[in-house]
Amino acid sequence: MRINKVVKVLYLLVLVALLLPASPIYGHGDKRPMKKGILLVAFGSTIPEAQVSFENIEQSVKKTFPGVPVYWSYTSRIIIKKMAKEGKHLATPAEALAKMMRENFTHVVVQSLHTAPGAEFHSMLKNVHKFAGMDKGIKKVMVGYPLMATSEDVQRVAEAIIKVIPKERKKKEGVVLMGHGTHHPANVYYAALNYHVQKLDPNIFVGTVEGWPEIDEIKADLKKRRIKRVYLMPFMSVAGDHARNDMAGPEQDSWKSILEKEGIQCVSVLKGTAEFQEFVDIWVDHLRSAFSHFD
Ligand code: CO
Repeated sequence: MRINKVVKVLYLLVLVALLLPASPIYGHGDKRPMKKGILLVAFGSTIPEAQVSFENIEQSVKKTFPGVPVYWSYTSRIIIKKMAKEGKHLATPAEALAKMMRENFTHVVVQSLHTAPGAEFHSMLKNVHKFAGMDKGIKKVMVGYPLMATSEDVQRVAEAIIKVIPKERKKKEGVVLMGHGTHHPANVYYAALNYHVQKLDPNIFVGTVEGWPEIDEIKADLKKRRIKRVYLMPFMSVAGDHARNDMAGPEQDSWKSILEKEGIQCVSVLKGTAEFQEFVDIWVDHLRSAFSHFD
């Protein structure tokens, strides 16, 4: 009978402990007001013209979330180093979050401005989650998807491509988009996009500089379809070094040179995807759905 009594007392103690508010027991007592912020994460670019892309995104984000502070950070270590040599400091996502933590932000959406969830996106993901749920730090970090994450995104991107190709382009002329491509498994997004875009218009092709599909395969397809003139466009947020040199440059191995050697006339369009509202809207929608978790 004694044991029964002890059990009863223990049971009561547990009940009391559960009913007590958590804060005095665990010593939280964090009474700071909710402070929401946005951290944009781009790959980065050393080309001054790329600034148009970044400004365009920032404007759209600020219009969608009036009054919410917007910070920037970059994931390319090479670009951060190059810019540092020119005396310009670019923050990494971790540096930017540390700063936001010092400024008492409690809820932050980290929005990826990458094209696909590749290596840059995943290492960023790993780093930024370390900042969530810290005592007296940032309570919640949500990460917004890059341009292409779901199948619906890929379809939407394909439709956006159709909308942004130059109006003067005739149906029988080709369009070749240069994606970056990656050794990361996320390279499949480029092949998926090529599939969707081809269904909408078989004379539009998506290739990559550093992944698959490669330009040689696209060249063969263009010849098969007897296409004599193509528009070359970067499929990267910024018309940077790859677009200006590997795509449109005068070197022997640029896409322009490779295609012109086959008698295909090339017209280069040096505009990154972030300069077109059609693509920016997709990033902003991803940011909006991440942000809605704070409501
Ligand atoms: Co590259």
